[in-house]
Amino acid sequence: MNDQEYSYLKSKIYKTTNLDIDCYKTQQMRRRLDAYVEKQNFPTVAAYCNLLEKTPEKQRQLLDYLAINVSEFFRDSKQFETLQKLVLPDRLAESRRLNIWSAACSCGQEPYTIAIILEELAPQAHHRILATDIDESALKQARDGGPYTAADVRNVAPAYLSRYFTKNTAGYWVIDSLKKKVIFQRHNMLHDLFENNFDLIICRNVIIYFSEIVRDNLYQKFHTSLKPNGILFLGGSEVVLRPAQQGFGMAFPAFYRKVTPKPDTDTAAHQLSEVAK
Ligand SMILES: C[S@@+](CC[C@H](N)C(=O)[O-])C[C@H]1O[C@@H](n2cnc3c(N)ncnc32)[C@H](O)[C@@H]1O
Repeated sequence: MNDQEYSYLKSKIYKTTNLDIDCYKTQQMRRRLDAYVEKQNFPTVAAYCNLLEKTPEKQRQLLDYLAINVSEFFRDSKQFETLQKLVLPDRLAESRRLNIWSAACSCGQEPYTIAIILEELAPQAHHRILATDIDESALKQARDGGPYTAADVRNVAPAYLSRYFTKNTAGYWVIDSLKKKVIFQRHNMLHDLFENNFDLIICRNVIIYFSEIVRDNLYQKFHTSLKPNGILFLGGSEVVLRPAQQGFGMAFPAFYRKVTPKPDTDTAAHQLSEVAK
C-alpha cells in the first residue's frame, strides 16, 4: 500500500476502533498492516476500509490481529518470584488492602497470577485487582477464567495448579473464587483516562510496541496513577530510560518505585519558597 493509502487506513482504524496507529513503532506496524490488508483480498485499500467502517466484526478481527495477545501465568518466573518474595510483602506491611492494576492484561493470565500470589501471601484479604485490555475477545476469555493451554500454565507450581485450577477437555480453568478477585474492563491506554491511587501497576510486554514519545508519556501517567512509593512492574525488555527525571527509582530489575515529589517539582517548590521569603 502506498503512503496515501496507509494514511487513509490509519484514519479509518482510528475512527472505528479509537486506536491511534501512530503511537506504535512505525515500521513494525506498517509491515503488519500491509500483510493483514493484503490477506483480506480486497481490490483496493479503500474497499477494505469501507467494509471496516460498516462491520463491527471486521473491526474486532483487526483489533484481535493487532493485539498480539501472547501471555502466560507467572511469565518470567524470576520476576514474579521477586514480586512474591520481596515487593508484595513490603507493600502488605504498609497496607492490608492493596489496589493493583494489570494494564494490557491480555487473556487474564497476568492478573490471575497476581491473585494467586496474594492468596498465598494474605489469604482471604480483600484486595482490588483491576485488569484492563483493549481487546474484547481477550477480555472474554479472561472473564470466563479459561480455557488456558498447557503452555499457558507451564510455569505454575504443581501445588498452585491443583489449588487454583480445574481441567477439562477444553483446557485449564481458574476456580470461581479466584475469578471473583479480578475486575476486567476494556481500556485503551492511549486514549482512556487512568485511575489513581494504585499500590502496584503491572504493565508488561506492551510498551515495547509503542514509540519512544508515547512510552515516556505513559510512564508519566503511571507515575501520577501510583500512590507515593507505589511500584511499576515492567516486562523484562522494557526500561524507563530516564527514571530519575520521570520520578522513579529502581527497586529491583523491572520494578520501579515512585519517588515523590519528582526532582523538578522539588526544585520548583524550592524556588517558590525562596521567592516567598
Ligand atoms: C503481549 S500482550 C501482554 C500481556 C501481559 N501483560 C503479559 O505480559 O503477559 C500485549 C497486550 O497489550 C494489549 N494492548 C495493545 N495495545 C493496547 C492499548 N492501546 N491499550 C490497552 N491494551 C493494549 C493487547 O491487546 C495485548 O493483550
